[in-house]
Amino acid sequence: MKRDVRILLLGEAQVGKTSLVMALVGEEFPDEVPSRAEEITIPADVTPERVPTHIVDYSGVEQTEDELREEIAKANVVCIVYDVTDLETIEKMASKWIPMVNGNAERNSRLPIILVGNKSDLQCGSSMESILPIMNQFSEIETCVECSAKNLKNISEVFYYAQKAVLHPTAPLYDPEEKQ
Ligand code: GTP
Ligand code: MG
Repeated sequence: MKRDVRILLLGEAQVGKTSLVMALVGEEFPDEVPSRAEEITIPADVTPERVPTHIVDYSGVEQTEDELREEIAKANVVCIVYDVTDLETIEKMASKWIPMVNGNAERNSRLPIILVGNKSDLQCGSSMESILPIMNQFSEIETCVECSAKNLKNISEVFYYAQKAVLHPTAPLYDPEEKQ
């Protein structure tokens, strides 16, 4: 059994990573946020899976590439956050963030990834159409979830899915790489 879970939030600038962390902790939408939230630890007894959980924010202006790689190495699961109204932040998950997390990893040591579509309060449709091909391409993606730091919608779910991906990993039903 794992002793604790370390969740790292990555993704393009301004997608709402820091707002998500602060919304979870403060249970309200923070109008102003620093570029990077302090690392927080949620005590075991208030997490759904009863395991101490660390939540780590990332900021491209406060952290170097080396520090980013160190954080990836320490993480048990990565939430890659995108903005549901900004297609470029979706494309960058496939071209930049997922390869950065798992590009050098052996197949069985890849970190589980959760795709987190933030700002669902601004959206009319769903981002699923653009997300599905990415989910099919990368078997380490456990799940995807749309949320809003502003409306506090699905915030605790994001962190619950991340915790669950570490404690109860699921094998993909269909692994495209198995066929090669
Ligand atoms: P960097 O630190 O620059 O990488 O950005 P970030 O990903 O931490 O985003 P941040 O939390 O600073 O939010 C960026 C902007 O988006 C801010 O103006 C937030 O108020 C806004 N924002 C964050 N979440 C939401 C949301 O769910 N809905 C809306 N409408 N705006 C949001
Ligand atoms: Mg930030």
